[in-house]
Amino acid sequence: MYRIPRGTQDILPEDQPYWRFLQGLIHRLCQLYGYQQINTPIFEETSLFVRGIGEGTDIVEKEMYTFKDKGGESLTLRPEGTAPVMRAYLEHGMWVLPKPVKLYYIVPIFRYERPQAGRYRQHYQFGVEVIGEQDPAVDLEVISIAWHLYREIGLKGVSIQLNSIGCPKCRPGYVKALVEYYRGHEGEICADCKVRLKRNPLRLLDCKNEGCQGIIEGAPRSIDHLCTDCRQHFETLRSYLDFMGLPYDLNHRLVRGLDYYTKTVFEFWAEGIGAQNALGGGGRYDGLIEELGGEPTPGIGFGLGMERIILTMKDQGIQVPELPSPKVFIAHRGEAAKRIGLKLLASLRAAGVGAVFAFGDRSLKAQMRQADRAGVDFTLILGEREIESGQVTVRAMAKGEQFEVGMDDVVDWLSQRVLKPIGERL
Ligand code: HAM
Repeated sequence: MYRIPRGTQDILPEDQPYWRFLQGLIHRLCQLYGYQQINTPIFEETSLFVRGIGEGTDIVEKEMYTFKDKGGESLTLRPEGTAPVMRAYLEHGMWVLPKPVKLYYIVPIFRYERPQAGRYRQHYQFGVEVIGEQDPAVDLEVISIAWHLYREIGLKGVSIQLNSIGCPKCRPGYVKALVEYYRGHEGEICADCKVRLKRNPLRLLDCKNEGCQGIIEGAPRSIDHLCTDCRQHFETLRSYLDFMGLPYDLNHRLVRGLDYYTKTVFEFWAEGIGAQNALGGGGRYDGLIEELGGEPTPGIGFGLGMERIILTMKDQGIQVPELPSPKVFIAHRGEAAKRIGLKLLASLRAAGVGAVFAFGDRSLKAQMRQADRAGVDFTLILGEREIESGQVTVRAMAKGEQFEVGMDDVVDWLSQRVLKPIGERL
């Protein structure tokens, strides 16, 4: 027996209502906010991610699915959604479009991580990217989309974690202060933090190790080292959030795991789903497009983990509508009846009425049991008698009532009674 690769999941039919509900909501919200959908390939040139995400990050160092194709080119399965969208923006000359360019995607992401509840090696992200505008009102809009989505779903206990990590002008000063502070505590920090201190000091603030928590508490804060531009941007964003009534927690430890971020960074945390409580995260990346070879262009976006949203929905007992299913079953006896049944089946479907057929040649009794299990509202019964009389027997399953309906009228008859044709509800 083959088993599914570790850290991946099948999304079985019983889970599809959650996915369909969530995707429907996302498309509707993005339309409301004026975002257009973009899809990029599942793999890209490896160097796009190394450049974009940053060499010292966990993603690039440990988590990428990188392989050589038969032509010898190094490719990587998308470990995050932002760099590919920036690549597409540049490749298709989207800078000529009116700014900001507002895009969204729902795509699979691949990371070789240690699997646990809420952490997978393939997961899906809903992401948005806004390119070409530095107004803090855009930061507000991006945060609002996620907030709106969580609210529409009915998630409870979601918080907005907010920080600013400055820009290439002011961050080096902050990192220097952080490193100096940590040098004074080098004997007390964990082995991982000793490496972080050398390679990626900002990530020191991210350490989950018990023993490092007190040191993090006393560490210098990035917002105390912002340059005038970054400080003003952050203050304005905060005042917009306050003005709009969006609650947030200032989180001085929030640094994010990708190198492209500048200024605003944020995450959405959920209560009650365990260690992997980040429902989503994002921030500004005002230097990324230039890093990838374009003109200096600001950008901001987020990625929300679809599986984590669904886990939280289930945890909180949030119900979703069932997917529509066919409401008519066609039972038949004898070859001539079967053929007429096949014709009626096609006519019903053409009229937008979902219908299923009794395949095989089981007894009528067995077919009626099938109809029961299919959960339909009506069963058409076709036999010799029906063919002779030109009348179809229609059984209303709930009450067990039977009707005789003319063969030529039965499609209309059913169209009117089956509440909403399936096509309208999809
Ligand atoms: P990220 O924080 O690495 O950001 O991922 C975004 C979200 O994806 C996380 O908050 C989490 O909900 C979900 N996620 C990440 N890894 C996993 C995993 N292994 N299993 C399940 N869910 C996961 C980014 O990827 C950025 N590209 C977001 C962004 C867009 N920033 C600006 N624009």
